[in-house]
Amino acid sequence: MATDVTLARVSATPEERTALAGVLRAHAGYCRKVSTPFYADLMVLMADEVDAGSPMAELMAPDATDPELGYRLRVLGGLHRMVLGGEAPDLARHYPSAGGDGDAAAAWPRIRELLAEPPPAVLDALTRPPQTNEVGRSSALVGGFLLVASHTGLPLRILELGSSAGLNLRFDRYRYQQDGVGFGEPASPVRFENRWKPGRPPFDADCRVVERRGCDRDPIDATAEDGRLRLLSYVWPGQTERFELLAAALEVARDDPVTVDRAAIPDWLDQQLRSTVPDRATVVFHSVVWSYLADDERAAVGTTLWAAGERAGPDAPLAWLRLEGAPTMDHTELRLTTWPGGGEQFLARASYHIGPVNWFA
Ligand SMILES: C[S@@+](CC[C@H](N)C(=O)[O-])C[C@H]1O[C@@H](n2cnc3c(N)ncnc32)[C@H](O)[C@@H]1O
Repeated sequence: MATDVTLARVSATPEERTALAGVLRAHAGYCRKVSTPFYADLMVLMADEVDAGSPMAELMAPDATDPELGYRLRVLGGLHRMVLGGEAPDLARHYPSAGGDGDAAAAWPRIRELLAEPPPAVLDALTRPPQTNEVGRSSALVGGFLLVASHTGLPLRILELGSSAGLNLRFDRYRYQQDGVGFGEPASPVRFENRWKPGRPPFDADCRVVERRGCDRDPIDATAEDGRLRLLSYVWPGQTERFELLAAALEVARDDPVTVDRAAIPDWLDQQLRSTVPDRATVVFHSVVWSYLADDERAAVGTTLWAAGERAGPDAPLAWLRLEGAPTMDHTELRLTTWPGGGEQFLARASYHIGPVNWFA
């Protein structure tokens, strides 16, 4: 964590205050809808504070004009990190993720006090967008990897775009099970059981990963305490299943480093696919990344993939596996394109975080 961060306060005009309070209240409504009342209550308290002219508005002022920047979540992420790191026991008493009572109003006086002079964890969180790494997405992605392995009969070389901490690069370290068939580490603490319907992926396929590597513009080191706390802090307190799954995946990652290069996706992919690697099936994959790319970046990724696809052969096949938001934005879709040939399959629908996988491949 950077501790030498100083806060460049942005003063908020009355119009910005009104807009910011509106953003906070709208977000509170969303939190309530997805059953996280603790953050819903905190966001309403923040909105009241902004309306009352508090300097707290200055911490989140950019959200008034561009809510996508997520300064309110940066602030809350910084506080949550303090709770999880043992720096704020008086707040932990109220945070559901720390076994607290979920009483936001009781936590509020201490939060107000802390945000009047933001501590290093909050200042650090303000410097970057919230970043999550959803291990639940492995329960959908696994099916694509298994299909490639069973169709090619080759070990896999997997390359992830936008890996964050690389938790889904370790998909084979987790356990998947249904109908008496399973794949992955039998004793893994990360378990996905009976989640697929109407069909299920070929869990009995012989799938071995012999090379794995990812890239991200801001990689998080899942083997370091700082990285672990950062990832956990962005899960909203009260989302217990998601939090526990992430904590379990971080335990697996602790002793299992993977390489996630700090790089921009188009350049990195171009480098990785410059030469074909024989006797391996190369799988380029990504989840919930596409919407973050600019049009020219998406075009560059497409050009690189199709050019590499032209060079692919039966001894060095290529696959493009992606789990990305559906046009309706209420679920994700898993698609697979394979070369030689370039044929596309629509494999499954899944939720964004955790939940059943509608597997129909
Ligand atoms: C929503 S997160 C998803 C992370 C991970 N794929 C998952 O499913 O949990 C998007 C990730 O893409 C990364 N990212 C976005 N644009 C990028 C770019 N142009 N180059 C590299 N990484 C990028 C972000 O840093 C972030 O870690």
